[in-house]
Amino acid sequence: MSNQASSTHSAPHSAAEAADNGGRVADRCIMVIFGASGDLSARKLLPALYNLGRNNLLPREFAILGFAKDAISEEDYRQRVRQDMHEYAGAPSDCSLCNWLADHTYYIAGDFGQAEDFDKLKAKITEMDERHHTGGNVFFYLATLPQFFSAIVRQLGEKCLTVEEPGHWRRVIIEKPFGSDLDSARVLNREIGQVLKETQIYRIDHYLGKETVQNILIFRFANGIFEPVWNRRYIDHVQITVAETLGVERRGGYYDRAGCLRDMVPNHILQLVSLTAMEPPISFEADAVRDEQSKVLHAITPIAPEDVLSRAVRGQYGEGRSGADGSGNDAEVMAGYRHEPMVDPQSHTETFVALKLTIDNWRWADVPFYIRTGKRLPKRMTEIVIQFRRAPFVLFRDTPVDRLTPNVLVMHIQPDEGISLQFGAKIPGAHVRVGGVTMDFKYTDYFGTESSTGYERLLYDCMIGDATLFQRADMVEAGWSVVEPVLDVWRALPARSFPNYPSGSWGPKEAEDLMRRDGRQWRME
Ligand code: BG6
Repeated sequence: MSNQASSTHSAPHSAAEAADNGGRVADRCIMVIFGASGDLSARKLLPALYNLGRNNLLPREFAILGFAKDAISEEDYRQRVRQDMHEYAGAPSDCSLCNWLADHTYYIAGDFGQAEDFDKLKAKITEMDERHHTGGNVFFYLATLPQFFSAIVRQLGEKCLTVEEPGHWRRVIIEKPFGSDLDSARVLNREIGQVLKETQIYRIDHYLGKETVQNILIFRFANGIFEPVWNRRYIDHVQITVAETLGVERRGGYYDRAGCLRDMVPNHILQLVSLTAMEPPISFEADAVRDEQSKVLHAITPIAPEDVLSRAVRGQYGEGRSGADGSGNDAEVMAGYRHEPMVDPQSHTETFVALKLTIDNWRWADVPFYIRTGKRLPKRMTEIVIQFRRAPFVLFRDTPVDRLTPNVLVMHIQPDEGISLQFGAKIPGAHVRVGGVTMDFKYTDYFGTESSTGYERLLYDCMIGDATLFQRADMVEAGWSVVEPVLDVWRALPARSFPNYPSGSWGPKEAEDLMRRDGRQWRME
């Protein structure tokens, strides 16, 4: 059933109303957004606040403070806030909730490195706290370029803005990328750790804000029937695909330095791996869950330098056509990566990665986890495929082997969120013949659709002090340790064959070979 609220959203944020809605209203607080004039704030954060308000999860005592370089007036910023909620959250124009949120919004034009601007920030927070009765609770959202993370936290520390006293809290949300390799992630952890306690740090990975990603835990641990077969005895291998149709769009400057491996694997994809592979936690407390995730990340076998070339595939898209297999005749022609804005025309940066990982523990020994992700692939699709071992053939000698499809459980993360299970069934008729059939669960059939940015739950959790869905320092470092050997080898041996896949195809041939060598193949829909 849809949870859609009516279009006359007002601002009724009492605890009782939130309780009616199945949730607890968030703690009273001020949200400070660094980088408030950027894309993330406009497209995700402000719409997410609107959605939280619509679901009665925001407290009455709530205010927003934008901090960014742009020299715009507070009134202009308020107007932007209304506009963003309208454009990116579908809020009706002139809705009372948007007006309420805009009225509770303030803005400072400042520089992330200027001490005086942080004095202004401090004075503004004090003033807002008195006006909106936010009880001294503040969370700072670092939606800036990563090179500012450390400097901002240092300034906050110097102005004593991160000091918690009994009865009020201070928290900092840090966006990705958290470092650009293991060393830089360690340095960043150390620097912010000089100012903040680990319990005040919320390292965000927006994949954990997705309902279907959160559902991996529920699926595995709230049901009795899957866990007994969730191991090396029954599972042949796991495949994780995160495919995007988009290219690098306007992010060439960042992406050409980062590349696909850094951009997607140590964070989003390893979150999916750890949730799929972790042991049951002893509770859903933040550290109980994160301890288990962390153990899995630490158990991923480091890829030896001499194995990198056979277990890690990189690709870069060239020109191609949109459409299912890149062959569409009248489809739009898409430029190759090297022709994208702000990308080096000789770039060796990868836009596609496939890896074969193994997890060295009792549950997963000898069960490969194949992962692949890339830009400009034929369709947008994120899925986790659990392929079970085949049944013994003996009873079905006369059935061709390719008809004896193994059981496959697919967790469809996005779009078309759901879960499906493939199994063999008797094809009606006088002979015993087996055909593959599918049992499908679709989120929308059961729960309707609710517009969400994926940031609602994460912002809300920060406001109530639940860090379960945020990364701990050790998890971030473990994630970088997994990719570090690949980064090292690729840095030393730049790819010579780029571009090596046309836009609109499923990546370079080597990605198919990675599976084929093991007698397996990527799932085709
Ligand atoms: C971001 C990456 O973290 O995730 C982008 O920087 C990528 O390059 C995006 O496109 C994918 O997120 P989603 O939610 O669209 O799968």
